[in-house]
Amino acid sequence: MIPREIIDEIVYRSDIEQVISSYVTLKRAGSNSNGLCPFHSERTPSFTVFPNTRSFYCFGCGAGGDVITFIMRAENLSYVDAVRWLGDRAGIPVPEDEYAGEADTVSRKRIYEMNLEAARFFRDRLFDDKYGKEAMSYLRDNRKLSGATIKHFGLGFSPDSFSALTEHMKKLGYTDEELVIGFLGGKSKKTGRVYDYYRNRIIFPIIDTSGNIVAFGGRVMDDSKPKYLNTSDTPAFKKSRHLFALNFARKHSEEYMILCEGYMDVIALHAAGFENAVATLGTAITSEQARVFAKYTKKVIICYDSDEAGQNAASKAMRLLNEAGLEVKVLSVVGAKDPDEFIKKYGAEKFKSLLGESKSGFDFKLEKIVVKYNLALPEDKIKASSEVCELIAVVGSEVERDIYIRRASDVLGNNTEAMKNDVERVRYRKIKEYKKKEGRDAQLSVKNIGDRVNLESSKNIRASNSEEAVIALMLIYDEFRQEAAKGQAGITPNDFVTDFGRRVFEEICKLENSEGGFSKALLGQYFSVEEMGRIEKLEVERRRLAKNDKEVFLSCIESIKQEKNALSLSDGFDDLKARQEMLRKAKERKDPKISGIK
Ligand code: UTP
Ligand code: MN
Repeated sequence: MIPREIIDEIVYRSDIEQVISSYVTLKRAGSNSNGLCPFHSERTPSFTVFPNTRSFYCFGCGAGGDVITFIMRAENLSYVDAVRWLGDRAGIPVPEDEYAGEADTVSRKRIYEMNLEAARFFRDRLFDDKYGKEAMSYLRDNRKLSGATIKHFGLGFSPDSFSALTEHMKKLGYTDEELVIGFLGGKSKKTGRVYDYYRNRIIFPIIDTSGNIVAFGGRVMDDSKPKYLNTSDTPAFKKSRHLFALNFARKHSEEYMILCEGYMDVIALHAAGFENAVATLGTAITSEQARVFAKYTKKVIICYDSDEAGQNAASKAMRLLNEAGLEVKVLSVVGAKDPDEFIKKYGAEKFKSLLGESKSGFDFKLEKIVVKYNLALPEDKIKASSEVCELIAVVGSEVERDIYIRRASDVLGNNTEAMKNDVERVRYRKIKEYKKKEGRDAQLSVKNIGDRVNLESSKNIRASNSEEAVIALMLIYDEFRQEAAKGQAGITPNDFVTDFGRRVFEEICKLENSEGGFSKALLGQYFSVEEMGRIEKLEVERRRLAKNDKEVFLSCIESIKQEKNALSLSDGFDDLKARQEMLRKAKERKDPKISGIK
């Protein structure tokens, strides 16, 4: 890849109106300018250049993007070649080979070797009194880890120095570039010097199932922030695919596995004899990770922190793991903040009995509803019952529904038959709504048929409209983009329904979080010119609307999530036969109980 600073400079010095005016005769119209589109034949100008946003868009054919996209189209060049072309024009040389394919110049194998050397260095420092005394005492006294456990996990310590590791590695023949790409070093913007990324931290090596050290996590020993630093994705590592301690856990996973949130939880569990525990690497579980579980086991017991965040994360994890075909149970560590603390306070035996009491997914959700209400109050009991009915109504299997109804009526103190009726009534309503929505969407989707950029949009009209609005607002307003990229807007890539929407969202966030921040010119490397046109279109159209505020942003986010939910709900109705059977039964049931409900 061409270095970011060079692309930024080239784009900065390539005035979009000037560049385009050698292809199109432009006429000024207010703050923009118009002309005949060079990409399709037309008689009245619908091609517009927006100098303010440094972009162009053709209202006739949908071509659009930034100055790089324009040259890609006009000269039929790849992204990199278009940048070079503009660089020549602006007199900014693009280095030929030095940077070409930078990420690939360091092989997987080289990174594994480098990480192994680094892990040895960190371990030696931990066991060396001169450097590691405080760290060792933190692990042994504060965290109550035995020497055997510390060794088993290969824990280490990175000294409080900007050069200890990097100097050591350079002596072993590793270059600055390799250290930076492998995430052991950072490069100072000011001096250009490479410095140690992990300083004064406890080091947790992350080891894959073949025994390679693929990444590190580093924890501070006090309350300073950030608590952990982690290796970002490298040519040898993708965070979203790995699980901490899977190298050990896979040998103990036949029956079930335990999923925790933190490195320290996993270590405490292994030390207490639960060697089938793993954790994600500081992110919510992904569907890729769910599939990894499915490779090693049949059942997962989720054991997250007991705070609200942990419990919400548990709900999400439950869904993903279920989708991967796993049986899922949830365990709550009552009386402790996390499994680590639980074991320290109450011991391994107590934890073992907790495991036996872990709840099924349904019981977990049921309990979440029940604790919100005081069942002694009739209004509360009615509210709780109706929420529970909604929950059971979407379960596809009749046998399963029956089991849940019995359980729920037990817990709520309801009459089972009455509850069964209520559930079927809700189910009938939901199926009706779903059919109606299907019909409506079929009509709406005629408009989006033939959408070659977002193939899924015609099947998911509402979702794709909301997705486009969210993306457009993120492009228009820095603050929305920053919020979303920091994960503070309540939306993540996983919430997106269409693949296109998800990809655009993800790349925008990645750029926003990168060192140089977001730049539309850089988006072009991830998308085709047609896709860039669509991205431009949704921004241009959004700008023309009167109401573009936070309220719109949040309500569109809400609606994406609802659509995603509805989609997973409709999965339960996928079996057409089962659905017809349902409808038939519900109609037959037009007995006094159903019609008498109003
Ligand atoms: P926790 O804060 O629960 O950490 O975050 P922990 O591992 O249980 O550590 P202790 O017990 O407080 O010492 C859970 C996981 O989230 C990631 C880490 O992977 C951590 O293990 N995390 C947390 C980060 O990546 N960065 C952070 O700043 C905090
Ligand atoms: Mn924790």
